[in-house]
Amino acid sequence: MTRGFSGDVAGYYAKYRRGYPPEAIDALQTAFGLHADDVVLDLGCGTGQLALPLARRVRAVIGMDPEPDMLRLAGEAAARQGIGNAMWVLGADSDVPAVKALLGQRSLAMTVIGNALHWMQHDELFRVLVPMFRSGGGIAVVANGTPLWLQESTWSRALRACLERHFGTNLEASCGTRPQDRDRYGQALGAAGFERVQDIVIEYGDELSFDQLMGGIYSAIPAGKLPGPRDRPAFAEYVRRSLPVGQSSFAELVKVSVVMGRAG
Ligand SMILES: C[S@@+](CC[C@H](N)C(=O)[O-])C[C@H]1O[C@@H](n2cnc3c(N)ncnc32)[C@H](O)[C@@H]1O
Repeated sequence: MTRGFSGDVAGYYAKYRRGYPPEAIDALQTAFGLHADDVVLDLGCGTGQLALPLARRVRAVIGMDPEPDMLRLAGEAAARQGIGNAMWVLGADSDVPAVKALLGQRSLAMTVIGNALHWMQHDELFRVLVPMFRSGGGIAVVANGTPLWLQESTWSRALRACLERHFGTNLEASCGTRPQDRDRYGQALGAAGFERVQDIVIEYGDELSFDQLMGGIYSAIPAGKLPGPRDRPAFAEYVRRSLPVGQSSFAELVKVSVVMGRAG
């Protein structure tokens, strides 16, 4: 079980990670013909960024994640939004065979994996999932933009340098968001037997305040490395001083990529 997203990190994730634009949810609905009697699995559902908007469009969503704190916050968000058809299941990619057993004769319309496939054994997962879909159903591997410190902007480069200095590590991991990652996932879907594999990209501009930037950073630091609550003001000040002087809003071009494959 991963504890990287536990405790305060989960809280920052729920509060500061952006959700997905409606165009992305529309694209999923169109690609797999999602309808009111469908069941969807959101694997690595986190605090429900995909599961919650999808739940409004189908009969039920199974949100599955190995991190109890993320699931608890997903459940709280569902309750706040009056969503009663999403269930929150503690489990990882290796537990998908148990979902298959639970469903019996029933098929999934879609499995969606948002910003999480890089934690999973994707070849094995795709192989297990192939027979679990209804006709026209399949998998969507979604990436919600480039990590804050890997973007093509002056502030992002300064952020990367200051985080690398602070943590004493190279921050190269793209968490499955680079075009090469997307190609690799598409090829793996094809190799597992998925058809009509395609990658669609939705782009939009956004701007973060300094607090949103810090919240996004805290949501991405493994729980064991997150500065303690008393150290956070000094850490935030260190980040602020490392960014371009006087900059108080941080522009992003957000690229949402959806790699999809149909089961037949
Ligand atoms: C970056 S968050 C993504 C959350 C959400 N899907 C989104 O799109 O914002 C990654 C999630 O993957 C979960 N995770 C980590 N390892 C996993 C695994 N082996 N199987 C399933 N989920 C996993 C983490 O607990 C975390 O909630």
